[in-house]
Amino acid sequence: MLRQQKANFPYKFPQCTELVYTMIREILDSSNISQSRLSNPPPCFPPPTRERKVTVAGRSHSNKLQRILEEYHQILPTVMSFASRVFAITGGASGMGLAVAKLLSKQGAAAVCIGDLNKKNFESAIKEIRAENPDTAVDMSALDVSKSAAVEEWISSIVHKYGRLDGAANVAGVPQVARQSSEAGPTLLDESDDMWRLHMGVNLDGVFYCTRSQVRAMTALRHKGDKTERSIVNVSSMAALSNGPSCLSYGVAKTAVVSLGARIAKDVAPFGIRLNTVLPGATNSPMLSQFFPGDAKSIVATLGYDVLEPEDIARTIVYLLSDESKKISGVSLPVGSGH
Ligand SMILES: NC(=O)c1ccc[n+]([C@@H]2O[C@H](COP(=O)([O-])OP(=O)(O)OC[C@H]3O[C@@H](n4cnc5c(N)ncnc54)[C@H](O)[C@@H]3O)[C@@H](O)[C@H]2O)c1
Repeated sequence: MLRQQKANFPYKFPQCTELVYTMIREILDSSNISQSRLSNPPPCFPPPTRERKVTVAGRSHSNKLQRILEEYHQILPTVMSFASRVFAITGGASGMGLAVAKLLSKQGAAAVCIGDLNKKNFESAIKEIRAENPDTAVDMSALDVSKSAAVEEWISSIVHKYGRLDGAANVAGVPQVARQSSEAGPTLLDESDDMWRLHMGVNLDGVFYCTRSQVRAMTALRHKGDKTERSIVNVSSMAALSNGPSCLSYGVAKTAVVSLGARIAKDVAPFGIRLNTVLPGATNSPMLSQFFPGDAKSIVATLGYDVLEPEDIARTIVYLLSDESKKISGVSLPVGSGH
């Protein structure tokens, strides 16, 4: 296998993970390999230089390796931008949040730290994330995002453990059955105090508490001299774009999340933090059937919407967490047709 990988070096690696670091190190260490022996060397392939040790992404490497890694930065900027980075993800035990954690792991994140209310899914989530990349540390915490003190403690524990927080995706949320007004009366009259509080508590307060704790931690790290550019992504919903009566409490909370993001983005920009909001359309997660009991996919189709996969949303969120989207902040981005 090593021989085959050597033959492909440096172009054909699917992604720049630990395997690639190890491979490059092995090649250089073993090495009588030189520029002339590569089948198709890039023009800027490092000429032989005197070896010395340097640190790249928290690891000690030879300076030749550093030159190669710099080249990978140009070829695969998104992949490289996650190396050694630590992320907090709420709602990461299921659906879109889990898809985000898996994609970050696949892209080489150092750690994904998940806060979720539902502990039942923790074991299977850890397995799925590790299957993407066993080198990513996976941290699962039982967390209710509607509890301010618990959120603060969770974020502090991440910084305490890893010494950094590079990005966050606030994905956790609760659904509401979609209903239309009928002759019996407006849907407003069915909206109980408990329903309203649940949606404000989880879907709005939860996003606010998480964003605030993450910004607090990120600002503190910056004040300590770590000038890394950081990114937060909040998840709203296409329900924020609709003025219909359906999902009233849910829709109002998700609309407020959009407003929250736009306002906070300006406030945190001077501290090297970007904040964007993603508005998913109907997505094939366990939540979908809770919006549309029965044959959810058919109901969504009759409404004229595509059904998205959690991975469609994850790609957007991960893009916004990456350096590929640097300079994009304060944006509310709908994903999916029918908006
Ligand atoms: N699925 C859709 O059609 C759809 C469409 C638009 C927006 N959204 C939004 O996308 C986000 C992700 O939803 P999903 O589709 O992946 O659903 P999901 O049910 O698969 O995942 C939601 C996760 O949030 C967690 N959660 C719920 N309450 C929590 C709390 N108080 N604290 C911490 N974690 C909590 C759940 O345990 C679950 O793991 C939600 O904010 C949802 O409102 C979903």
